[in-house]
Amino acid sequence: MRSDECGIRNEGQPQLRTPHSELNTQMLSQPFRPHSLGSDLHASESDVESILLSEEQIRQRVAELGAQISRDYEGREPVFVSVLVGAVMFTADLLRSVTIPCSLDFMAISSYGKESRSSGVVRVMKDLDESVESKHVIIVEDIIDTGLTLNYLLDNIRNRGVASVKVAALLDKPSRRLTDVSVDYVGFEVPDEFVIGYGLDFAQRYRNFPYVGVLRPEVYGGK
Ligand code: PRP
Repeated sequence: MRSDECGIRNEGQPQLRTPHSELNTQMLSQPFRPHSLGSDLHASESDVESILLSEEQIRQRVAELGAQISRDYEGREPVFVSVLVGAVMFTADLLRSVTIPCSLDFMAISSYGKESRSSGVVRVMKDLDESVESKHVIIVEDIIDTGLTLNYLLDNIRNRGVASVKVAALLDKPSRRLTDVSVDYVGFEVPDEFVIGYGLDFAQRYRNFPYVGVLRPEVYGGK
């Protein structure tokens, strides 16, 4: 397909040419294939027992949260602190729904491992790039489970002299809570199931699934 056939006009402009220009125009002519259960894009979709939250449900709810945060923080410029890795998808979509000035930073923390799970001891593997002193911080998480990670993060951020700190989490699993933490912006409350997709993993897999699904117990050796 030529560029003028797909509505791209470049009159009077030098033509963009790349070594892969033919491949690029071919890709433009391919229909976009949405991900869905049963598609061969996700070879491991058979590991999913059921879809808990569809792409559309997530899209709508995340847009609502973005709008709510934009209203609540009108006149302020919050710093979103996204917790790697699981919160990446949620963060990317949430921020596109936020209509006020804001900035984005990332933290990575080590998982505390099963044996020390109840201790809540975590280690910062990647710290924020910018100071958040006197800033309004919104921690962005994919899921709050026991709450131990969030408890640690809240302490850590509060100790930096912030103006305020709140929490936005896509999923909340209150039935698993081991510590009393409050989540200000919750996407969905979920039951005590092994959930994967939209950033959430099991052994680093399934993060790329566009929906949140329940993993078959035989996959993770549960139930
Ligand atoms: C998940 C999630 C939270 C934490 C919640 O991270 O992103 O940070 O667990 O669990 P908790 O409430 O019991 O502390 P994980 O350690 O799986 O790392 P990941 O984000 O890289 O997947």
